[in-house]
Amino acid sequence: MAAQLPPLANLVRAGSQCQRVVGRRSHRLLCNTHRIQPCRFLQSAPQAASPPSTVPEFAFAFDIDGVLVRSSDPLPRAHQALSYLQSQLIPFILLTNGGGKHESERVSDLSQKLQIPLNTSMFVQSHTPFASLDEYKNKTILVVGGDADNCRHVAEKYGFTTVVTPFDILAAYPAIWPFSQHLLPYYRPFARPLPAPIDPSSPSTSLKIDAIFVYNDSRDWGLDTQIIKDILLSKSGIMGTLSPKNGKSAFPNRGYQQDGQPPLYFSNPDLLWAAKYHLPRLGQGGFREALEGVWEALTGGQRNGVKLEKVVIGKPHRPTYEFAEKRLIEHRKALLAKHGGRLGHLKRVYMVGDNPESDILGGNSYKSPYKTDWVSVLVSTGVYVEGTVPAHAPRMVVGDVWDAVRWAVAQEKWG
Ligand code: G3P
Ligand code: MG
Repeated sequence: MAAQLPPLANLVRAGSQCQRVVGRRSHRLLCNTHRIQPCRFLQSAPQAASPPSTVPEFAFAFDIDGVLVRSSDPLPRAHQALSYLQSQLIPFILLTNGGGKHESERVSDLSQKLQIPLNTSMFVQSHTPFASLDEYKNKTILVVGGDADNCRHVAEKYGFTTVVTPFDILAAYPAIWPFSQHLLPYYRPFARPLPAPIDPSSPSTSLKIDAIFVYNDSRDWGLDTQIIKDILLSKSGIMGTLSPKNGKSAFPNRGYQQDGQPPLYFSNPDLLWAAKYHLPRLGQGGFREALEGVWEALTGGQRNGVKLEKVVIGKPHRPTYEFAEKRLIEHRKALLAKHGGRLGHLKRVYMVGDNPESDILGGNSYKSPYKTDWVSVLVSTGVYVEGTVPAHAPRMVVGDVWDAVRWAVAQEKWG
């Protein structure tokens, strides 16, 4: 019977010895007495065999917030977990829905915080895949979110030549959003002159936005919502104009976003994330939901057959896992090149995360083109609250990142 048990069942067997096995999943979800007991391991490291001669056929993808750090504070056993893997040449990447700084900057921050040597070849942020959108590199893009103008600098380092931000527009036209006037002194030091004026009387020379990228959590939901809404209702992305197609039922989506308006990209769907505060905080997904609420009110929304056309990447979405898997495969090859040995097929990736909606759903639903099995492991140090039933069932629930590593290497009979 044991073999075909649903994944989470191991916990029950390990934990409460519940005898009524049939339909365990539904039984457990409904039954209050069987609270999920995270699997925990002692401090001690597995008997470390001498460094292996081959790069193992398994690897790890670690989420950051709620797994390795809480805001800027490293979590207790994060260093131990990563240094053990490095001592065993077990490959891992960091796969976060966070961002807001260039990968090189974040990697050096994290290396210092976790006291672990890391490099950008093993690091994927929410907006990292934007770097490959070459079709907009010589166009004018709007970049939203993040502290000060950090995300502008990230976009420029990715090769985008003309990057405008909502606060550049506010600094040039304060009347465009009356309710952030008090922030102008804060914005002005890093606001830049616009590449073109907003002049609806001469659309051909007026500022035109060719793509909108939300790189990180908005710091000014009001301003960012106003500017994005203005562009999405404009004609061809020309600031200060209104598309005559808006609201016309003769057109698809009732004429909205049917007149050459720029595409809208979001890098991170997280509604909630684990920051310093003891309860999860609203993330970029919260801003998007608020924006979609405004769009719904402006356009009549679903009851009018209108939706907000957008592209959302980040965990749990497939493009981010495809991108991460390629990074991991390259990183394994680099490890091999450095340490020699044989490189077998990557059979399993342990996706360790704290958010069922992003890390676990993403790990569970990602079907690898390389037939690699992504095994989702949920830690209890972030968004997921210990003892509750996660919205998406992981392969294993554990206490913290060290427990995740210990459980996985035990599964692999490693060491
Ligand atoms: O803004 C970051 C947050 O949404 C989650 O980041 O590292 O837990 O994927 P992470
Ligand atoms: Mg997280």
